[in-house]
Amino acid sequence: MTTRTFLALIGSPRAKSTSETIARYLADGLAARGWTTEVRSLSAAIRHAERWPDLEAAYQRADVIGLCFPLYVDCLPAEMTEALERLAPIARDTRPGCFAVCQCGFLEAEQNDTALAICREFARDAGLDWLGGLAIGTGGALNGGNWEKMGKMAAHITDGFAQTIEAIDAGAPIPDATQALVRKRFCPTWMYWLIGNASMLTEARKHGAMWKITARPYAR
Ligand SMILES: Cc1cc2nc3c(=O)[nH]c(=O)nc-3n(C[C@H](O)[C@H](O)[C@H](O)COP(=O)(O)O)c2cc1C
Repeated sequence: MTTRTFLALIGSPRAKSTSETIARYLADGLAARGWTTEVRSLSAAIRHAERWPDLEAAYQRADVIGLCFPLYVDCLPAEMTEALERLAPIARDTRPGCFAVCQCGFLEAEQNDTALAICREFARDAGLDWLGGLAIGTGGALNGGNWEKMGKMAAHITDGFAQTIEAIDAGAPIPDATQALVRKRFCPTWMYWLIGNASMLTEARKHGAMWKITARPYAR
């Protein structure tokens, strides 16, 4: 039997991003099941022209492609958009699968739905089989990839990723139940606001901006 190849494409422009952690986690899960895995940064391939041919070659040999990225202004990061626009017209003999994992700063997973719909359109235009999208809120909580150590609080993520790996390995789309599972909120809204406000105040104090926090310099 020939080995199948998984290509994880990182959409975050940040070094050491949550998206990269997720990409590598999924790749490791498939590698443990005998897949050949590759991980590439879309931003790096856009910024450094000499890296584009390598990305294109990896894209052409992949059996399944996973897009792992952060939500930026309700959409995809700009360099990721540019990369997908360049990849979509590439002709290929095979029809690989494609899924996406989008995580955002806000609590609600539904913030990611438009971005995931854009990824589905990319898959359609590129001639890839759409295998589903994972929408995850409070992505910052996953920073460092410690969801397995977070126990019950992040069980929906640990289980959701395990089910995703299982489905991809079985050659199936990500089940609807898995896509629904990862949308669960990490904490109640009031707690998110409390923690969010506290960290904003801490940052303001750190930058000596405590007394400017309500400033509206452009208000007439
Ligand atoms: C420029 C920028 C725009 C962002 N826009 C949104 C947004 O529209 N909605 C949201 O919930 N989070 C937004 N975020 C937060 C990121 O999605 C979040 O911090 C994410 O976990 C970063 O993932 P990464 O480490 O993979 O880059 C934004 C962050 C940045 C830097």
